Amino acid sequence: MAHKLRIMDVNLGRVVITGVAGRMGPTVRAGLREEADHLVLIDREPVTAEDEDETALEGDLSDLATLVKAFDRADAVVHLAGMSDEASFDELLEANVRGTFNVLEAARRSEVRRVVLLSSNRVTGSYPIHHHVFPDEPPRPDGLYGVSKLAVEALGQMYADTFGLEVVALRAGSFEEEPTETRHLATWLSPRDCAGFVKAALTASNVSYVVAYAVSANARRFWDLTVAENELGYRPVDDAAKFASQFPDDDPFWHGGPQGGDYATPESVLPHLPD
Ligand SMILES: NC(=O)c1ccc[n+]([C@@H]2O[C@H](COP(=O)([O-])OP(=O)(O)OC[C@H]3O[C@@H](n4cnc5c(N)ncnc54)[C@H](O)[C@@H]3O)[C@@H](O)[C@H]2O)c1
Repeated sequence: MAHKLRIMDVNLGRVVITGVAGRMGPTVRAGLREEADHLVLIDREPVTAEDEDETALEGDLSDLATLVKAFDRADAVVHLAGMSDEASFDELLEANVRGTFNVLEAARRSEVRRVVLLSSNRVTGSYPIHHHVFPDEPPRPDGLYGVSKLAVEALGQMYADTFGLEVVALRAGSFEEEPTETRHLATWLSPRDCAGFVKAALTASNVSYVVAYAVSANARRFWDLTVAENELGYRPVDDAAKFASQFPDDDPFWHGGPQGGDYATPESVLPHLPD
């Protein structure tokens, strides 16, 4: 194994990243390369290993045997793969619910210590924008995608409670290079903070099951970050406020309505309901 520079003497060991070919994948991969001994990269789309410290595998979440093999000797899994937006109930059930079940079950069988699950702010997207949400408040999913992520969290809780797997569910905000719409002034998750939250979720001590919002330090955010700071030891650094001048102050989004904005509307869900 090549020599690695270790920040704060953290060694993440062998880490699997699922869904690495997606939008967040490259940021998470780059953020973990320095401190991981080895990265195992899985996606159903082709991925290429950069050097001998990476293994790339093409595989689908529906294939438990492949996941068990891929997780062999792994210390941790960062589970990004799945449907990342509104879709049909069947698609969400298969990719997010069964997919996460297979990831957690493969982790149990392979004796992986910790799994980081990418949940979503959309688990609580029906709360109104003036409500500051703590992660332990009752969920209010803004669509079927949010419902599927709630099931993801429940699976994580069950594997933690019943089998002692260490699980962190990160309710990610809007992952973008920069905010591209008004809502992002509240919901933006910068690439730097995304990498920071994932690394903290892998390294935090005394974890059984933690659910935390992963959002940048946006002045206008809706979500409480106390759990992230106290239990994961991460305080985000970016603030979408520096982009505020690009968006109209009087945008109807700020007049009230759900945190999910356009996502939390019948028009967003209806096209995905059965005929
Ligand atoms: N991007 C965001 O703003 C955001 C916000 C909140 C939560 N999240 C969550 O974070 C995670 C990563 O998000 P993203 O934006 O990178 O998603 P993405 O849609 O860009 O990428 C998902 C990846 O998962 C892979 N994948 C999907 N189904 C698979 C399957 N059955 N087997 C194997 N691979 C499969 C896809 O090929 C893709 O590479 C997702 O779980 C998403 O729901 C993302």
